[in-house]
Amino acid sequence: MPVAEKIQGFIQRASWIREMFEAGDRLRAEVGPENVFDFSLGNPDVEPPVEFKNILQELAADKTPGLHGYMSNAGLPETRSAVAEYLSDEFGLNFSSDDVIMSVGAGGGLNVALKTILNPGDEVIVSSPYFVEYNFYIDNHGGEIKVVDTNPDFTLNLKNIEAAFTGKTRAVLINSPNNPTGVIYPEENIRDLSALLEGISSKVGRPVFLISDEPYRKIIYDGVVVPSVFAHYKHVISVTSYSKDLSLPGERIGFLAIHPEVPEKNLLLGGLILNTRIIGYVNAPVLMQRAVARLQGKSVDIGIYKRRRDIFVKGLKECDYDLIEPQGAFYLFPRSPIEDDVAFTREMQKENILVVPGSGFGKPGYFRLAYCVDEKMIEKALPGFKRVRERLK
Ligand SMILES: Cc1ncc(COP(=O)(O)O)c(C=O)c1O
Repeated sequence: MPVAEKIQGFIQRASWIREMFEAGDRLRAEVGPENVFDFSLGNPDVEPPVEFKNILQELAADKTPGLHGYMSNAGLPETRSAVAEYLSDEFGLNFSSDDVIMSVGAGGGLNVALKTILNPGDEVIVSSPYFVEYNFYIDNHGGEIKVVDTNPDFTLNLKNIEAAFTGKTRAVLINSPNNPTGVIYPEENIRDLSALLEGISSKVGRPVFLISDEPYRKIIYDGVVVPSVFAHYKHVISVTSYSKDLSLPGERIGFLAIHPEVPEKNLLLGGLILNTRIIGYVNAPVLMQRAVARLQGKSVDIGIYKRRRDIFVKGLKECDYDLIEPQGAFYLFPRSPIEDDVAFTREMQKENILVVPGSGFGKPGYFRLAYCVDEKMIEKALPGFKRVRERLK
């Protein structure tokens, strides 16, 4: 057998993703790509801000020697300073460049964070629905995922989280704005979770970390504010990337930030920096570090996503889909009209519409739509959604 048994199992578990890709390819070949309505991918289609391309051209023309060499594993001092300055303004705390470590996207940052804090068998509590890769990231570092349900409105259910604690719990991992629901966890959720973590940490005599996965932090609508995790708790590792807000997912650039006043800070930083080095990527891509240093606070035009959200939410509600209007990210997570969300997905494919079953996010009975597509595609697809809804009454 060329691969480990565990990995074979993982391949099997993730096979629905392959199945969906295949269905998409088959449909595109059958009816033409222009007639397939693909809402399955969270791959931002809005172009990066023009400044990004201008900056890249300037950086490419820079003849200073040594620009492409190895560097401090934590990243370029000027980039870390620029990020720290931005974070200080946003959160009203005094972040220094030491509190920031550049990473290979949020995925890379999460792996560095988990590798740094997990002992073998340590548990990480995750609220469903959740980004499916967490299963694999946690396993990568010898951890165990413990999944608990959210409230019916997809906010954190503190009772469920509390009930999932054991002596082995090392972290709670949250993601807000959330993929797949688009929900932003309210301030009281974050405050109560922090109080719970504080109490449990003192009881067990070691800190339980709050890992906050925030790649959608700037993709928010209607003037809502994403509450700060730093305001309530110190054992926080926040993980962010520029994949979504600057539309740079292929460039693999993001960062980790820790609370400036976290106890035993140097040890924590030492672990995060060492793991950046030994996880296999050594440091975040240097060209991108230099680019994002100059793009702090910038983002793509969020109004584009908002218009799509509005069209989609209105259209789906009109044909009687049950859904919570998202306040952020670029996903919708409606209830499947039939219990079997995988069967529902297949029914949608008959209309040349590709959606992802909620089971893929640990939440059967729902489905995810990514609106990283043109408004016109949403409008053209709505009659298909309507027909399926009518067929499944
Ligand atoms: C919730 C969540 N976390 C992390 C990631 C990974 O982001 P990146 O591309 O920056 O590694 C994604 C990507 O879709 C995501 O949705």
